[in-house]
Amino acid sequence: MSATVQVIRPGFVAEIGNVDLRTVIAPDDVAIIQNAVDNHPVLVFRGPTLTNDQHIAFSKNFGNLSRATEYQKDPMKRRLGGEMTDASNLSEDNQVLGAGDRRRMNNLGSRRWHTDGSYKALSGKYSLLHCHTEIADGGQTQFADMRGGYDALPERMKQLIDKLVVVHSIFYSREVVGFGGFSPEEQSTLPQARHPLVRVHPASGRKSLYISSHAWHIEGWPIPEGIDLLHELTEYATQPDNVYTHQWQVGDLTMWDNRFTMHRARRHWPETAVRDMRRTTIEEAAPPLQQAA
Ligand code: OGA
Ligand code: MN
Repeated sequence: MSATVQVIRPGFVAEIGNVDLRTVIAPDDVAIIQNAVDNHPVLVFRGPTLTNDQHIAFSKNFGNLSRATEYQKDPMKRRLGGEMTDASNLSEDNQVLGAGDRRRMNNLGSRRWHTDGSYKALSGKYSLLHCHTEIADGGQTQFADMRGGYDALPERMKQLIDKLVVVHSIFYSREVVGFGGFSPEEQSTLPQARHPLVRVHPASGRKSLYISSHAWHIEGWPIPEGIDLLHELTEYATQPDNVYTHQWQVGDLTMWDNRFTMHRARRHWPETAVRDMRRTTIEEAAPPLQQAA
């Protein structure tokens, strides 16, 4: 029997069943999943837990993996290989990171609404986030539908933003959470990226907002004017009825389309409890400004 698609939120979230992500996925099932994510930019798969290699192999069905971002001069000891991003609160020897640890400060950035890799020219297309531990209290991941966010805008706002280009930088999103002080040398490793503010969702033809905590400068605008607009758009797009909250169970994997959603992590209680989350990201085939639409 083929993979099944159960709609959770029409046009936004669906759960995929009857497919074992530990195995080589049959081409027909890859096509079902691809079609599902084309129509529902957030997909949920339930257990069992995958090895890192199985997670990576499944991800490669959907494009090229991007390497985990390294921008700190003294590379931190990594728990996972370079094809995975460590979204956990763990050190390389599986100890919960302390408050001052730069890896923890980096990951606190994920608690702000964002889209993965928007600070790169080849930004994140899909992300696949997998839960390895029970998270008893809190620690959800939330997703906002950016086509719904666009639809919620008043007409004159849609006209104002239609052709705008936005500059994204990982150093901006770290600074605003109080994690800064990067040297020019560190900053030169990840130059800023320019992206359209409005994109078109191919399957539905609907317009969508492309914003992120990394977004900071509207090209051609004074900096404070741009930051003000970006905050306002984020507020429109993250109204509760436009948000899906995923409560994690061990073995869950969520796959989302970064082009048409934003997401954020929520606090878990107590923070000394392990939250072991691992992510792969598929990169865009071309910079968004060069894509048709
Ligand atoms: C990520 C991310 C959210 C979370 O891995 O890109 O934002 O809930 N994670 O861990
Ligand atoms: Mn993220």
